Amino acid sequence: MATPNLNEIHDTLIDLAFKAGEIINNALPDTGPDSKKNSADLVTQYDRAVETMISTALKEKYPDYAFHGEETYTPTTPLTTAPTFIIDPIDGTINFIHNFPHACVSLGFAINKIPTVGVVYNPSTQTLYSAIKGQGAFKNRTTRLPLSGTTPAPLTGLSNALVAIEWGSDRGGANWGVKTRTFERLGADKSQGGAMVRSFRSLGSAALNICAVAEGVVDVYWEGGCWEWDVCAGWVILGEAGGVIVDGNPGGWEVAVDGRRYLAVRGAEKGQREIVEEFWSYIQGR
Ligand code: IPD
Repeated sequence: MATPNLNEIHDTLIDLAFKAGEIINNALPDTGPDSKKNSADLVTQYDRAVETMISTALKEKYPDYAFHGEETYTPTTPLTTAPTFIIDPIDGTINFIHNFPHACVSLGFAINKIPTVGVVYNPSTQTLYSAIKGQGAFKNRTTRLPLSGTTPAPLTGLSNALVAIEWGSDRGGANWGVKTRTFERLGADKSQGGAMVRSFRSLGSAALNICAVAEGVVDVYWEGGCWEWDVCAGWVILGEAGGVIVDGNPGGWEVAVDGRRYLAVRGAEKGQREIVEEFWSYIQGR
């Protein structure tokens, strides 16, 4: 098998992201999204059309590499260590259905399950994030991430952090209990009536959350229950911007791209390790 040409793959993924963006921007209101698991886990004809367009193009150009997409995934075809395109055709499907302009095409490429190329494109705002491992992360191809200058302010702890959290579509069982208890603990210092983290944002796209952390406009993103196609592309972008992704549960400094529990933290003055440990302490019940 030929060694992957990462620069070519990066440019190909950007071309496909723009083509996908045209399909998304020209979409008519989808009156009949299908429910996958429940009313918060939806798929539209456009998710399927974009994935078909992208998989057809990638399989034709790169027949040696595997393809792993949200809408064609089955539990019998788990992610392997082979060079693999890991794709979410529309990340933020609920936003797309509601015309909330915060959804994206998330196109990743992993080797040995290590995210290596990432392209995330929001067609509503025409914002592109992209990175190749080892070559830096960029917004709209030219602006290096994280943004430099006086903003964002240095992150010194969770008390001055803007934290992205998501409800996800998994609303039952132990995962839901951990989420809601953690939201509660992070939200308020009950004994003093004060705030713990500065505020939450729940914007409905895992990939765009990770890019916001890479950019530095959000400090932390935490979610359990999402998938490798939600995070693979953003993972490369965040890593190249100086941020990290660790396990969403306490103790896991190494998390696999298909680990399904993620805590993303931007480059921090105080040290990412301290921010991660502080966040984990809230999950444990500080
Ligand atoms: C979802 C979004 C959402 C997150 C869910 C994901 P989808 O992806 O990223 O923010 O909370 O866990 O499944 O279904 O819109 O591709």
